[in-house]
Amino acid sequence: MFIGIDLGTSSVKMILIDYEQNILATSSTSLTVQNPKDGFSEQNPSEWIDATVECLEALKLKKPKEFSETISIGISGHMHGATLIDKKGSVIRPCILWNDTRSHKECLEFENQRFDVRSLSGNITMPGFTAPKVNWLKKNEQENFDKIFKVLLPKDYLRFYLTGEYYSEMSDASGTLWLDIKKREWSDQLLSCSFLEQKHMPTLVEGNQETGILKNTLKNKFKFKHNVKVVGGAGDNAAAAAGMGITETKQSFVSLGTSGVFFTPTKDFLSNTGDAVHSFCHCLPNKWHLMSVMLSASNCLDWVCSVTNTSIEQSLKNVESFYSDQYSISNAPFFLPYLSGERTPHNDPHIRGSFHSIKTTTDATQLQYAVIEGVSFGILDGVNSIAKVNNDFENIFMVGGGSRSSFWIKFLSTLLNRKLSVCEQSEFGAALGVARLSMYLDDSISDKNKLIKEIKVSKEYKPNAINFDLLMKRYSIWRDLYSSNKKSLLTT
Ligand code: XUL
Repeated sequence: MFIGIDLGTSSVKMILIDYEQNILATSSTSLTVQNPKDGFSEQNPSEWIDATVECLEALKLKKPKEFSETISIGISGHMHGATLIDKKGSVIRPCILWNDTRSHKECLEFENQRFDVRSLSGNITMPGFTAPKVNWLKKNEQENFDKIFKVLLPKDYLRFYLTGEYYSEMSDASGTLWLDIKKREWSDQLLSCSFLEQKHMPTLVEGNQETGILKNTLKNKFKFKHNVKVVGGAGDNAAAAAGMGITETKQSFVSLGTSGVFFTPTKDFLSNTGDAVHSFCHCLPNKWHLMSVMLSASNCLDWVCSVTNTSIEQSLKNVESFYSDQYSISNAPFFLPYLSGERTPHNDPHIRGSFHSIKTTTDATQLQYAVIEGVSFGILDGVNSIAKVNNDFENIFMVGGGSRSSFWIKFLSTLLNRKLSVCEQSEFGAALGVARLSMYLDDSISDKNKLIKEIKVSKEYKPNAINFDLLMKRYSIWRDLYSSNKKSLLTT
């Protein structure tokens, strides 16, 4: 039996699978996020531990016999968070999360070096990433900076709790900006930009390699029969890709969740820092991936539905019938989905969302249409940014909450002018991905190449040529609106 743990921003999710990768039991426990100031987003790592223990207990209750026979565990987690550990292994301050934007000034300082930071890190320095958060700390909380013994990513802190070992793996380490992405090793040069050294970093492995065994206290507490091994695991997006079997260059996925992601594996290191594309290692050896990240995707729809007092279901119905009339589409308002700034392609933590071309006749359905269209245009921006350096992807899987709407998938399929596939949906995709990675540690499995297999397609959607030209015309107008929004923010 194998356990996958996914430390998400809003909950810990856990899965127990057997050798055939059947899901035997799942559990989840919610987490809170603290926003002590505008732009600040923090979490207390002790909550991660409490939630993990609770989830393990729930799995044990559901399937006691199978649970006790666990061979290995994989961990996935939200990326980029700076979890700072002192000499005694204690947490110094709350973890500064991936969606915290306080370090925008430090991004410029991090890159102001005598060498080309971007070509080594493969990425543009964004406030979401780990490195500028530590630079912020040095400037604003020197006493905490001085206590740093290790900087760990969220899931690697959970690993430390489970095993007592300091390890990370390539996919998550890529989001720190201290990794030489091409060589897959910590970079002294990049670490020096944050006044850190290799000794402050955990040891690196690949996502399918061992990082130690579960502490005896935990083995006894949960009555595990074996010495349970813990595998490297993956950052949440690479883990979700492993859960769907997306490891080859022809494959890709769009995730329409709180954030909007387009992810596609690459054979070699590639990057497009000009468009703020994320260039990271994948969670298997010698594989990389490119990823575009929109900070607000389906939560824009949640937002407009709440302000127009409409259920999401109803609004999708309204928008679908609205979309059948080309005249209505041509006259619809535009929406920029930058509710909390944007990463790809703008790298702009200050930009905010907006509606354009509002008239006295504009109603709730038109606003809802504009939101779905604007979020979809944002996804297209991401796909186009990646296609500039890598256009190998053929199949696109749709995942995340937004992909439950067949209208939205059809709309995106037309807009991207590509076939979109929907698979059996599970909110445990990342947990499944790392549970699969943990199976690499079982010596009794001889053919490890079959562990990360592609998930079954349940439905396919093809582009509809009818509205394509109209959407392209609107996309080109929409693209120009970003600069006018930026100007309005500069003058206020
Ligand atoms: C990726 C990113 C998010 C977080 C939270 O760069 O910031 O996917 O990992 O899910």
